[in-house]
Amino acid sequence: MNWMRWVAMTGLWAVLIGSGGAMADSPASFLETFNAEARSAGEGPGNPARGQEFFNKTHGNEWKCAACHGAVPTGKGEHAVTHKVIEPMAPAFNPQRFTDAAKVEKWFRRNCKDVLARECTAREKADVLAWLISLK
Ligand code: HEC
Repeated sequence: MNWMRWVAMTGLWAVLIGSGGAMADSPASFLETFNAEARSAGEGPGNPARGQEFFNKTHGNEWKCAACHGAVPTGKGEHAVTHKVIEPMAPAFNPQRFTDAAKVEKWFRRNCKDVLARECTAREKADVLAWLISLK
């Protein structure tokens, strides 16, 4: 399948899921999962303002999330080391984001380890995702 067609189809899915039940992996379904995990750890649901702050500050190491993804990731980012272009993170600007559990898990794990020297908690992931979803 060619790339444009795939993007168009995933975009269509995002619309369908947004307007109906969340059967497939979508930004909303990941947020629901992270919120539920955060709640069972005794913490509140994701908060966009907290997510923005988290994304834009360092956590002991040299990098912040924004170093590669940009301060407001509605546009393209650039890898801090390789300078490779990184497509926008906000789902409204990139319908491929948060549609693939393997990808979401892999990159949260890797990037959180780089930035925080540990994995992110469910609440931290909920905060970041709540913020990314709020960017229109
Ligand atoms: C050193 C550069 C770098 C830093 C710092 C970084 N990322 Fe990433 N991130 C990447 C790259 C590279 C990818 C994979 C390429 C892509 O998906 O465009 C990625 C992908 C992701 C994805 C996958 C989303 C999806 O569904 O496609 C998530 C989630 C993510 N990053 C979150 C974060 C968070 C949260 C932080 C801060 C804790 C962070 N990143 C910091 C480089 C970085």
